[in-house]
Amino acid sequence: MAENLESVLKENRVFEPDPAFARAARIQPADLEELYRRAEADHEGFWAELARSELDWQKPFTQTLDSSDPPFFQWFTDGELNVSANCLDRHLDTRGDKTAILFEGENGDVHRYTYRDMYREVCLFANALKAKGVEHGDRVIIYMPMIPQAVIAMQACARIGAIHSVVFGGFSADALRDRINDSQAKAVVTADGGTRGGKLQATKKGVDDALAGGCESLETVFVYQRTGNDVDMQSGRDVWWHDAVADQPEECEPARVNAEHPLFLLYTSGSTGKPKGIQHASAGYLLNAVCTTKWVFDIQDEDVFWCTADVGWVTGHTYVAYGPMACGATQIIYEGAPTVPDGGRFWKICQDHGVTIFYTAPTAIRALMKLGDEFPQSYDLSSLRLLGTVGEPINPEAWMWYYSVIGGERCPIVDTWWQTETGAHMIAPLPGVTTMKPGSCTRPLPGIAADVVDEDGNSITNPEQGGYLVVKKPWPSMLRTIWQNPQRYKDTYWPMFDGRFYLAGDSAHKDDDGYFWIMGRIDDVVNVSGHRLGTMEVESALVAHPQVAESAVVGIPHDVKGEGIFAFVVLKGERPEGGIDEALSKELTDWVAKQIGPIAKPEAIRFADNLPKTRSGKIMRRLLRSVAKGDEIEGDTSTLENPAIIDQLQGKI
Ligand code: WTA
Repeated sequence: MAENLESVLKENRVFEPDPAFARAARIQPADLEELYRRAEADHEGFWAELARSELDWQKPFTQTLDSSDPPFFQWFTDGELNVSANCLDRHLDTRGDKTAILFEGENGDVHRYTYRDMYREVCLFANALKAKGVEHGDRVIIYMPMIPQAVIAMQACARIGAIHSVVFGGFSADALRDRINDSQAKAVVTADGGTRGGKLQATKKGVDDALAGGCESLETVFVYQRTGNDVDMQSGRDVWWHDAVADQPEECEPARVNAEHPLFLLYTSGSTGKPKGIQHASAGYLLNAVCTTKWVFDIQDEDVFWCTADVGWVTGHTYVAYGPMACGATQIIYEGAPTVPDGGRFWKICQDHGVTIFYTAPTAIRALMKLGDEFPQSYDLSSLRLLGTVGEPINPEAWMWYYSVIGGERCPIVDTWWQTETGAHMIAPLPGVTTMKPGSCTRPLPGIAADVVDEDGNSITNPEQGGYLVVKKPWPSMLRTIWQNPQRYKDTYWPMFDGRFYLAGDSAHKDDDGYFWIMGRIDDVVNVSGHRLGTMEVESALVAHPQVAESAVVGIPHDVKGEGIFAFVVLKGERPEGGIDEALSKELTDWVAKQIGPIAKPEAIRFADNLPKTRSGKIMRRLLRSVAKGDEIEGDTSTLENPAIIDQLQGKI
């Protein structure tokens, strides 16, 4: 963290928004000041007014914030609405024929869905869900490639008040089974397969393997035919999507749901081995999704918006499935990898479809930057007017490349800080107004009381001092709880400061202008390519291998992925000479991929006779992080139970 802070403190370049962009932006400097002023003067009133103007209600709310049982906050509690109606029905008269989704498959097939098409598809599938007994409040797992049917399935769940939980298609069958069981899902929606990186993915096979391990709650598997490859269909359980919708009516009345009704669960890693089901409500979530899509992405009617995130992550929820749809935007969905057939694919899509707003992760920017400027330079990127990033801090070098080579120095960059738990952007620039600094997500949005505080909860004003990133007031799209585990919700997010502030789990510092710089996680979570992985999760996967006795996992800096995984392993048998055994390392790496998914694969594995532990048995991760990075070991190691182990861990003996 100290090292990080130093490089960030050195960054002093500033960039003003392009004047042409600024003139045409939705939010002008005076509007932003007014938003801040209103939020400051009356936090609840500010959100209530926006909830009334931005959302269509079936029954208006009378109570804005219920804080009678903190930290279980509720918003707009007595109101009723339907999220899918807010994304589809409201556009039928004004934008029925407008393109909602322009889909491009990895193999180049293009399909266009208007808002009316989306409405029809969603209603059909919602009726199909109902016909198979899926009811209000039931959980539905969506395990699909990145195709429009994933969004249709999510919207269909919202339409009938079922709770969806999307599981990233790259997760393993074991990870899928855990999520089906934890959520007690009644149905799974999947596809026969998808294509990524030129390879056919056996998506349905993943579901079969998951279910073979026993999932009692599960009744139905819906299978969308995407690739036409052979799949096993188990009679009585599996049904083709096209058969399930065949006789359904093309209209489906949107269910009236309470504002607080759970819209979805999304599992994310924490500091224990077991992923937690982050539970979001309906109205509050949608409100922040809409406001941020308008404020931060400056969405206008003629825009072509492209967020490259998979629906398996929260970014694909808020800025693919819900935000742009609720705003009536046109968006791109691309099924495949950025490097198929070559590193120009993203830029070709921008050119071919006239993308105006492009939102991706720093890891993708770094990977594409490495391939050279020839790729972006062979395409016409002049339609772009705004760029965005999310998922991890962006290093200034990647920022500058994005700004100049992709954005032609005319597109503002919105560096958006937020989390699965926050539901929507929290700290981000307003593109026509905010001065940008490469590597800073700038300032909290109106109505978001984010701050950096010390151990006692006091605001830190010294720009050279880092601290805890917190949010001091509830906001509408905050998570409501952890599914079936309210205690873990309290313990994870409200453990300090007498439970007054939401603890984000990141460390940050604020500069003299009040700009936020995110330094990294404070818990045992590693951010690999913008995806959160608990070190405990990877450790549990490793110790499940018959040859492994114990393991400790830490993050190491990685020039493309941001962070990579470094694993220390103690074997049940003898330690290989010098602590290295390539064949066994490969076996363990593949093992982890099978248990969790390929993103969790360690970059390197080092074998040791033991791990460095304190006398109370706690593994000293600080030490392991230094060893993994190849740094000198500084500080006191005398509290170690076994100080001699250090030389061995470093591979010296
Ligand atoms: C990190 C993704 C720096 C942070 C939306 C956070 C960021 C975690 C940024 C959440 C950013 C996200 N700058 N760090 N702009 N955005 N992070 O839940 O550590 O997948 O806590 O949500 O990513 O990851 P999650």
